[in-house]
Amino acid sequence: MSSLALMRWLEGSPERYDAGMRLITFGQVTPLHAGVTEAAVARPGDHVLEIGCGTGAVTKRLLDRGARVTALDQSPDMIERARARVGTDTVDWLEQTAAEIDALPEASFDAIVLCLCLSDMSASERAYVLRACPRLLAPGGRLVAADEVHAPPGWRRVLQRLGRLPQAALGWLLVGALSQPVADLGGELERAGFALQSEQRWLGGSLALLVAEPSA
Ligand SMILES: C[S@@+](CC[C@H](N)C(=O)[O-])C[C@H]1O[C@@H](n2cnc3c(N)ncnc32)[C@H](O)[C@@H]1O
Repeated sequence: MSSLALMRWLEGSPERYDAGMRLITFGQVTPLHAGVTEAAVARPGDHVLEIGCGTGAVTKRLLDRGARVTALDQSPDMIERARARVGTDTVDWLEQTAAEIDALPEASFDAIVLCLCLSDMSASERAYVLRACPRLLAPGGRLVAADEVHAPPGWRRVLQRLGRLPQAALGWLLVGALSQPVADLGGELERAGFALQSEQRWLGGSLALLVAEPSA
C-alpha cells in the first residue's frame, strides 16, 4: 500500500484516525481529551469555540458535558467526519482557518479550545490566532490549549527526540502535516495577553494542557 493510500485509509474513518492518534500518544490522548473537556465546560450551557476539531472526538465530549459548541476546522473532510460522528445539528460548524476567528463576534464564548492543532500551525499563525482569542471570550472566560511541547531537559527530552521520527511519520500519514512540538506554549499564551491558571502534563512531559485567562 502506498503512503498516500495508507493516509486515505487512516483518514477514512474516525475510528481508525482515533486509533492512530492513540498509537502516536501511547494512549495519552484519552486523558488529555478528558482534561480538555473538564477545563473547557465549567457549567452546562457554556458556549465553547473549538478550533481544529478534527474528527470530533473532543466535540463529542464537550456536547456530552452540556456545552453549546462552535467547531472549526480548515479541512472539509474533517468537518464532514466530525459531523457524522457527533450526529447532531446543534453544533455550529465552521469550515475555515483558525486565523479567520478574528471575524467572530466579541465576547461570545465562555471557553476556546485548541487541542493538538497549534503544533500544526506556523509560529506566526499561532501568534495571530492566540492574540485574536481574548477579544472573543466573555467575562470569566478561559482558553484551553493542549499540545505536544518540549519535554523537560534530560532523559525525557532524549526519549522524546528518539520517538519523534516514527511519531512524525505516523502524524504525516494521519493528517498530512508534519507537526512540531511548541517550544514555549506558556510563553506564547502570555505574550498573547493571557495569564496561566494551571498546567498538566502527560507522556514524559511532552503533552501539555494549559488553562489561561485574559490578563486583567
Ligand atoms: C491532530 S488534529 C486534532 C483534532 C482534535 N482537536 C483532537 O484533539 O482530536 C488537528 C486538526 O487541526 C486542524 N488544523 C490545523 N491547523 C489549522 C488551522 N490553521 N486552521 C484550522 N484548522 C486547523 C487540522 O485540519 C486537524 O483536523
